[in-house]
Amino acid sequence: MDFFNYKNGELFAEDCPVREIAAKLGTPCYIYSRATLERHWHAFDRPFGDRPHLICYAVKANSNLAVLNILARLGSGFDIVSAGELERVLAAGGDPKKIVFSGVGKRSDEILSALKTGIRCFNIEVGGELDRINALAGQLGVKAPVSFRVNPDVDAKTHPYISTGLKENKFGIAIEQALLEYQRAAAMPNIDVIGIDCHIGSQLTDTTPFLDALGRILDLVVELKKMGIALHHLDLGGGLGIRYRDEQPPEPAEYVKALLDRLDQSTLDHDVEILLEPGRAIAGNAGILVTQVEYLKTTADKNFAIVDAAMNDLIRPSLYSAWQEIIPVQSQSSADENHWDIVGPVCETGDFLGKDRKLRLSPGDLLAIRSSGAYGFTMSSNYNSRPRAAEIMVDGSDCHLVRERETLAQLWAGEQLLP
Ligand code: LLP
Repeated sequence: MDFFNYKNGELFAEDCPVREIAAKLGTPCYIYSRATLERHWHAFDRPFGDRPHLICYAVKANSNLAVLNILARLGSGFDIVSAGELERVLAAGGDPKKIVFSGVGKRSDEILSALKTGIRCFNIEVGGELDRINALAGQLGVKAPVSFRVNPDVDAKTHPYISTGLKENKFGIAIEQALLEYQRAAAMPNIDVIGIDCHIGSQLTDTTPFLDALGRILDLVVELKKMGIALHHLDLGGGLGIRYRDEQPPEPAEYVKALLDRLDQSTLDHDVEILLEPGRAIAGNAGILVTQVEYLKTTADKNFAIVDAAMNDLIRPSLYSAWQEIIPVQSQSSADENHWDIVGPVCETGDFLGKDRKLRLSPGDLLAIRSSGAYGFTMSSNYNSRPRAAEIMVDGSDCHLVRERETLAQLWAGEQLLP
């Protein structure tokens, strides 16, 4: 459930009319809803009850400082994958002790800043990273808290580009090698082995792959215990899908319950903390991208609505052939209903936001692309020298500009002419 609804034929973000926001702050713009973000975060947190747990929001989904700050105020943890995301979380008031650091290619400088910050845990994805973290922690005279991201070789049954838990994927330590790496880690002077981690993919719409992965991780935990390695936490990653069209993913509560039921059938101690890293399921349906129709173009074969947002603003349709719902900001229109390809101004045939959408359109109309709160702005670029869109956070009847639209001068800031 989200807070983008029609009232008298007009789309509202919570209590703010989208048309008024667009008139004031321009298009294209991302509009996020605070109430939706908070609701979705609690939907993951609440079902754990008094069981030790931490929801570590995956920053890559939407890293706007206002979004991170809203979640930090709820007591959220954060899953980061770069020094940039670390600095964002700190700037937004996130607690360093609730930060886990994932990612396959952590550079030394990134590891050092995380060690100096005193983050909660590194999720190690490759053997060499363990040696590097041990050496860097030694230089600083600290012990690095680590877990291994284990690749359980489970098919997440999602788009191949966002499936990460198969042995042919670059992510994590192969499950067969994990025991060896844990043994190596346990013997290292500057390493504190505290957990185990897995993340098998994104936009999963069924609990089965999550439970299969959990089963394999639990088997490993038993083996580790036999070797004298006791873990403080189990991080089960993110990946719960959302409804873009007609998908029927489990609700967060259902998903958490399935995980807890599986854990209860195991020999795992009740005080082992459970971490989750949801991104999309918290932010996805908490945001829309608003765009204006510039021109309508009808050819013998097709009707094109050329809008002012493009693949540089929202790349998911072009990159994954992802389908996102496109709705009018004002639902009453006297224009004829037609089938439209909603395309942007970028010079690529792959620049589309939606195809074959039944809409009544006139130039100047505003459209909202739903489910754009995750992997929308964070994947946007300046391709075709297009400034990145403004970001707006709605909170009841208040509307805050939380990132200004980029200016043209910002496009080449840092570039130099030759002397
Ligand atoms: N943890 C790790 C280690 C991850 O790699 C990811 C996402 C997450 C958590 C959060 O997953 P979520 O709960 O959001 O599914 N750009 C793609 C999605 C890429 C996901 C990458 N990893 C898209 O737009 O569909």
